[in-house]
Amino acid sequence: MSAASQKTRVLTGITTTGTPHLGNYVGAIKPAIAASQDPTVQSYYFLADLHALIKCQDPQRVRESRLEIAATWLALGLDTDNAIFYRQSDVPEIPELTWMLSCVCAKGLMNRAHAYKAAVAENEAAGNQDPDKGITMGLFGYPVLMAADILMFNAHKVPVGRDQIQHIEMARDIGGRFNHLYKGDYFTQPEAVVDDSVATLNGLDGRKMSKSYNNTIPLFVAEKKLLKLVRKIKTNSLEPGEPKDPDTCTLFQIYSAFATAEETAALRAEYEAGIGWGEAKNRLFESLDEQLREPRERYLALMEDPGHIEQVLLKGAERARAEAAPFLDRLRQAVGLGRFA
Ligand code: TRP
Repeated sequence: MSAASQKTRVLTGITTTGTPHLGNYVGAIKPAIAASQDPTVQSYYFLADLHALIKCQDPQRVRESRLEIAATWLALGLDTDNAIFYRQSDVPEIPELTWMLSCVCAKGLMNRAHAYKAAVAENEAAGNQDPDKGITMGLFGYPVLMAADILMFNAHKVPVGRDQIQHIEMARDIGGRFNHLYKGDYFTQPEAVVDDSVATLNGLDGRKMSKSYNNTIPLFVAEKKLLKLVRKIKTNSLEPGEPKDPDTCTLFQIYSAFATAEETAALRAEYEAGIGWGEAKNRLFESLDEQLREPRERYLALMEDPGHIEQVLLKGAERARAEAAPFLDRLRQAVGLGRFA
């Protein structure tokens, strides 16, 4: 076995429908970039742009989001000589594997997928005659495409949010079924990695920061806009001079996700001493701005140079396909689709 194949393979995808925000950075991007620097790990990070089509039929948005997410990861220092960084849609082996897996995946398994069940429940709650109203095959089969993403590279570990654990279990199930049916050890059983130590950030309204709540602070907004958004973060009506509880405060939570332990302890003391909300907001803004200024500059430069990003992603896809293509050949043979001679 080569040295590369002995490494732990860590893989994760980012659905390209949104603009990266502070919550994405703290919860996913930062830990992923850190993990990719571990020499015992081979990481595979990709733009899940085929998944994007499930939720978003606005081509402009999909296009923009792909560019923004790629530029964000590069600006934050992802080392693409080390990590394999690619677009899902540049690896045609993935949709082909999706089909093979669809043909061994029980429909009943997909009936139980959370995203599908939630869509059905919504239809039922709305009193729709057809419980499947507006549900596409893309949404229904979403976990199979995700299984193909993971199994294509025989990932050992898949860092995800809690809501994705079920999909990793389905990938294990589907891969196991393929191994059993075609009598071989084709697929490794992937494991979900959910890191509870990384913070989930709250958004402007105090709920979890999420694109679907429209309460996000984009990572690389201009300075002025950043200040404006920080000023919008919901606080309570306590006056300056009154002691405040840092542990239930969104401002403090975001601050501590970016600051050092000492800085966080210092701000905690100021909360107890009754810092005013205006002042606390200034503190948060200054800290964010200071830390984001350099990557923001790199980000803006990258956004001006899509040709460079394209090159980086194509190189990533080439590396990904160098693994995917021979493996898919083997799988084609396994199912009876190999060449005659
Ligand atoms: N479905 C994941 C999400 O919405 C994104 C994703 C697509 C993914 N394929 C993946 C994550 C494979 C991990 C592994 O967050």
